[in-house]
Order: sequence, then structure tokens, then C-alpha cells
Amino acid sequence: MHWRHKHLLDVDQLEKEEIEHIFELARNFKEINNRPVKKVPTLKGKSVVLFFAEPSTRTRVSFDIAGKRLSADTFSLSKSGSSLLKGESLKDTVLTLQAMRPDCIVIRHQFSGAAAFIASKLNCSVINAGDGWHAHPTQALLDGFTLKEEWGELAGREILIVGDIAHSRVARSDVKLFTKLGARVRLCAPRTLLPPRVDTWPVKVYSSLEEAVKGVDLIICLRLQLERQEKGLLPDLREYSWRYGLGLKHLKLARPGAKVMHPGPMNRGVEINSELADSQKSLILEQVHSGVAVRMALLYLYLVGA
Ligand code: CP
Repeated sequence: MHWRHKHLLDVDQLEKEEIEHIFELARNFKEINNRPVKKVPTLKGKSVVLFFAEPSTRTRVSFDIAGKRLSADTFSLSKSGSSLLKGESLKDTVLTLQAMRPDCIVIRHQFSGAAAFIASKLNCSVINAGDGWHAHPTQALLDGFTLKEEWGELAGREILIVGDIAHSRVARSDVKLFTKLGARVRLCAPRTLLPPRVDTWPVKVYSSLEEAVKGVDLIICLRLQLERQEKGLLPDLREYSWRYGLGLKHLKLARPGAKVMHPGPMNRGVEINSELADSQKSLILEQVHSGVAVRMALLYLYLVGA
């Protein structure tokens, strides 16, 4: 397939066939990650800048590993080690990075729209690694790939997303991707943690977790994004955990064989308990494993274009 996109800003840019193509490539790249020597020359001579203005463990390291396993040169820049702290603007920062002629900039930023903004200024490819509340397309793609590997198809499956939906870029991108692939999506959260105009989303909304889990194939727990919340959205963390914290007892109300995912990082004992997170029902570390293969596929497509 000829890859027609220059930038990856969110999953709604992608057709269903393009998502399936990413999954197919990721399946091939996954095999490399299981070899004793995990390196191929595919992206030799290409340079990728990983510009993370917000903290990250999974996304940043997996993009770095993905690039290196394909023999690209990767360069990391974080806010704390950059001239952003001396007052340099985002625009000047990315124009400076572009002057060093990378082939791609992977960006995470706290402002919704930051990836689109820099894409409009630069000639090289831009991959959005999470911008504010707006989008986290590579997380949605690795979530979808994990489920494709688990189930074969997403069509007809029932997926529940629980927790801080209002502040979650993962929820926004996951809903778009899962519904595009034919799954039905439910959301469950206290009213203060639901996004504005959620009635326009293609989902069913629940306030009771016990009701929401009935008959689902998968539950995705979201982290409480305390760094993005205004004060007063949650009167009491213990009550939130009691009403919305997921445990093995909830999986018993779901379909037989139902699984749990979490994009990470987890607040154990808040949105999910350790017994469930560490159980056979959990796909959380499988998501991380998928993340490297999916990001290898994306770097290949956005740097080589085929
Ligand atoms: N899921 C995710 O984006 O995790 P990190 O913040 O650790 O990258």
C-alpha cells in the first residue's frame, strides 16, 4: 500500500484499510522483537527526534526502541533538558530541530493541538505521541492491535472504558478507532469526569460500574489525570475508588473470557486493584509489548511511505 499521509495527528485521519495495514506490518515487526538479535537495517540513515515536553515512560521508550531496532538514529529532547525552560517558544524549538534535518519528529505536549500546530510549520513528518486531552493515536493503534491479536476481529465486540474520560486523550482516540473497526463502546464515569457533549459520541454512557460491565468483552481502566483536573471534580478519592475502582469481582459480571487493559501508568488501588492488574485477565503488559511493534510499523510508514 502506498502511504499517503505525511503526519499522524489522530486516528480519524486513517481509513479502516490503513489501520489494518498498520496491524499487518506490526505483526511482521513483532517477530523481530522476539529474535535473539533484534535489529534490521530498514531505516538506516533516517533520523527521528523524540520531543517529549510531558513525562512518558511507555511511549517514549517504545518509540526509541522501535527506531533503534529498525536502525534509525533517535535523539531525545525533554522539557527539563531543553531551552523551553529558558523561555524559547514551541515554534522556535521545532524550527530549530527541523534545521538539523530529521526525517520525523515524534511529539508529546500538554497543549491540545500542539502536534497539528508543529505539523503546519515543518517539512518533516510529525507523529503525535499525545497532545493535551485531544488525542493519543499511537496508543489507540496499539490497543487495537493488542485486541486484534487477542480476538482476531474487533467487529461485534463490546468494549467498556471506565474512569476519567473527560481528561483522557486515550479515550478520545480509542473510541474513534474501536468504532471504526466495528466494536461497540460503553463509557462509565461519574458525571464530573464525563466530557462535555458526550451525547454526541457514538457510545452508551453509564454511571453504575456494576451495570456497565454486564456482558462486555473488555474493560479499559483509565488513570485519574489529577494533573489535568480542576479542584472539586471528585469530593473523595476513597469513594471514587469504591464506586469506580475495578476488581476481579467486576470481571465475573462481564462475558466469559473478558479481559482488562490500562494504558498506564496505573494508580493501583484507585482505578484498578493489584489482584486484577496482575491476574491472567490483564493484557496490560501485552499492550506495552504491542506498542513497540506498532511504533516500528508507524516509523516505517511515515519514513519510507510504502
Ligand atoms: N500510555 C502512555 O502514554 O504511557 P506513558 O505516559 O508512560 O507514555
